[in-house]
Amino acid sequence: MDNPPCGMYAVRGNFFVAFGACAAADLHIKVIMTTFDFRNEHKCTDMSSLNTSFAGLELKNPIVVSSSSLTDSAEGCLRLERAGAGAVVLKSLFEEDIVRRTESLTDEAAHTESADYLQGYLRGQMLGDYLKLVRESKSLCKIPVIASICCCSAGEWTDFARMIEQEGADALELNVMSLASDKTAADGAFEQRHVDILAAVKRSVSIPVIMKLGANLSNPVSLIERLRGYGAAAVVLFNRPYQTDIDIEKMEYVSGKVLSDESDLSNSLRWTGIASAAVKNISYAISGGVHSGEAVVKALLAGASAVEVCSAIYMAGDAWISSALETVEKWQGRHGFDSVAGYRGRMNAADAAHVDRLERMQFLKYFEGFGNAHHHR
Ligand SMILES: Cc1cc2nc3c(=O)[nH]c(=O)nc-3n(C[C@H](O)[C@H](O)[C@H](O)COP(=O)(O)O)c2cc1C
Repeated sequence: MDNPPCGMYAVRGNFFVAFGACAAADLHIKVIMTTFDFRNEHKCTDMSSLNTSFAGLELKNPIVVSSSSLTDSAEGCLRLERAGAGAVVLKSLFEEDIVRRTESLTDEAAHTESADYLQGYLRGQMLGDYLKLVRESKSLCKIPVIASICCCSAGEWTDFARMIEQEGADALELNVMSLASDKTAADGAFEQRHVDILAAVKRSVSIPVIMKLGANLSNPVSLIERLRGYGAAAVVLFNRPYQTDIDIEKMEYVSGKVLSDESDLSNSLRWTGIASAAVKNISYAISGGVHSGEAVVKALLAGASAVEVCSAIYMAGDAWISSALETVEKWQGRHGFDSVAGYRGRMNAADAAHVDRLERMQFLKYFEGFGNAHHHR
């Protein structure tokens, strides 16, 4: 496996981020990230002990840059590879975006014979742009390139999964996050949609398929077991949804925090710790709230093989990757581990000693008196 390149990188970045959430059809947020200047100093160390196997892919380390505008160009992916990333997940192609944009075109061209033609044309162009992103990223990068589709249904676009495979993507991640809020929906219908989408895609491709899940599942473990049965190579726990908030002066809905913080990690740690003990033969990645090398170690101890990160890199720049990797390496050294496999899953629910903390929902006796102590401070 290649080690990250050594030397000095000076990177100046202007980030303009657009994130469309599947769950909120017409809510597109644009975030202007501040201009920053930093030096990404990658130390020349032997990081071979950080190798990990995720979704059948051999990664030189567990830090995967998650699907976001960081990975919406081949040049961006190459820059992240040079900064030390173990793999990249390309910005998603949004099924919903294609449908909405082609529909708006149909509105404009309503009642004209050209509507169908225009729809087909726009759709072809958006798909073509995405295939170009896959092709160019593969030609520039040595690390695995994982394509991503944000899909809401097992629709005709599954053909597109085959085209992505033909362009050389190493794996395909399906982001199925959406709101389950239909009051007439049958129990389990939302979970079934994940299975239907996976089954359709698995019929089209032979590259590993990774399921990126939302946290709004009634029982993630039973869904993961079903997804494993249908051939998913990995699950990502969890996608972080668009956050909604209210401006009480204007009495308007506004966007909540776009980027995560450390507190987002807890839920993914819990479910990875529980699921990785219960459902084997599938790999896990934690996404959401990984902001430090220590958080990477926690994810691996809970049973993940990789982490998918973007907020920390938006905030701290590409240099975050090498500094987090150094922290992981130093931790491994302090604890006498010479490989990730040596401790991955060590703190999952396979050990009865961890079950109580992983499955605890109520605070109960752990926090008796907590309120009083706090109140009187
Ligand atoms: C600006 C932005 C854009 C994103 N775009 C996508 C996307 O296109 N597809 C996707 O699956 N996830 C997307 N995500 C979710 C991230 O990939 C990631 O799973 C989530 O933010 C949690 O990781 P973090 O705590 O490192 O931010 C986006 C997140 C942000 C902040």
